[in-house]
Amino acid sequence: MNSLHAHRGEILYFLDEPDRRAEPSWVYHQDGVLLIEDGYIAGCGSSADMLDQLPSDVAVIKHPNALIVPGFIDTHVHYPQYNVLAAYGTQLLEWLETYTFPEERKFADPTYARLIADQFLDELIGNGTTTALVFGTTHPQSVDAFFNASLARNLRMICGKVTMDRNAPKWLLDTPQSAVTESENLIRQWHGKQRLGYAITPRFAPTSSDAQLKAVGEMRQRHPDVHVHTHLAENARECEWVRELFPNHDNYVDVYHQYGLTGSKSVFAHGIYLQHKEWQTLADTDSVIAHCPTSNLFIGSGLFDLKTAEQYQVRLGLGTDVGGGDSFSLLRTINEAYKIQQLNGHDLSPFKSLYMATLGGARALSLDSHIGNFETGKEADFLVLDYHATPLIKRRLTAAADNLQEKLFALQMLGDDRAIRETWVMGTSMKTLR
Ligand code: GUN
Ligand code: ZN
Repeated sequence: MNSLHAHRGEILYFLDEPDRRAEPSWVYHQDGVLLIEDGYIAGCGSSADMLDQLPSDVAVIKHPNALIVPGFIDTHVHYPQYNVLAAYGTQLLEWLETYTFPEERKFADPTYARLIADQFLDELIGNGTTTALVFGTTHPQSVDAFFNASLARNLRMICGKVTMDRNAPKWLLDTPQSAVTESENLIRQWHGKQRLGYAITPRFAPTSSDAQLKAVGEMRQRHPDVHVHTHLAENARECEWVRELFPNHDNYVDVYHQYGLTGSKSVFAHGIYLQHKEWQTLADTDSVIAHCPTSNLFIGSGLFDLKTAEQYQVRLGLGTDVGGGDSFSLLRTINEAYKIQQLNGHDLSPFKSLYMATLGGARALSLDSHIGNFETGKEADFLVLDYHATPLIKRRLTAAADNLQEKLFALQMLGDDRAIRETWVMGTSMKTLR
């Protein structure tokens, strides 16, 4: 549906981070209209204000018993780990060796890569996720497959080939030179094509030699507009290993920083075991942490310190980290984020977490001029959250919730992909494509 059309229902989106402004940082219409023209937001307001102004022949699609919100943004996920999801009994380093590296080997085959990319993207859409920052494998063809599958769905996606030249099976390794040549070929081919962007993707410090980090850091300086995407301080044994491998560096963040890999387009997954100096470097360089609570619990990594991240004003997004994470759902991710902060002695408000999954995620990926809320001119990626998704959700939300905050919180705690009634990408329902 590409001409002018409108959606009518309950609508919520954010203008800023809750807590950061005196006036409400969100816009809520109990009975609102979202107007779409050629895939972009043409207006959003109360039905009372909007309906009179619409030409009489404009289609108005009604969404009863639902909440319309911007598409979810997953700031850290691995598409080649689709089949690794929910693997038993290991923590990070053993999990990589046992499950992940053998599966990633299969992405040398472009046909397999495309099959998984298609399934992965359909899963994202079914979970209301319309944009993600995504790991490929070391094989450039894994990124070609992912971007072709994204193009077929007109999705805004960022992906990159993994660079790693040590401490992994030899059949997954590249070299300092091939990492640069292959990444730059992919940048030339894909970065900025329609809604796609490239991320330089060193797996994590232990799997790159100094020579590779240096080469990748120099490549980063040649391409300042692409992203950098990697892992940081996720697991205690990993951190110990980084201290052994990089004895001349002050700390883990310093390894990336000295090679020129920090910055406003650098997204570091996890950041659980960080010293104050490291938080300060992340803040000074405007770098981003992708908080991945489902993964941190599932592979037993640890509890993320959201309060310290906020004190240092480090930019944050939410990530599912599938397959370390055991769910594609940003609602499940919010649920686990809430519980981790409960264990840390803090309440994570439902507005704050929905902000993190929408506008906060867009800001974390420097995409907020395109997506993240319903300001006029932005790309019309949104989803319809179903207040009646299950009998339990229906009962809790309609009979036992008094206000928006309560409804939203209960939906976040009880919801998953069943609560996503419909996902729209650039003004088109993705039901029609499935
Ligand atoms: N650290 C290095 N590689 C990985 C990975 O694939 N997943 C997670 N969660 N952490 C990593
Ligand atoms: Zn990861």
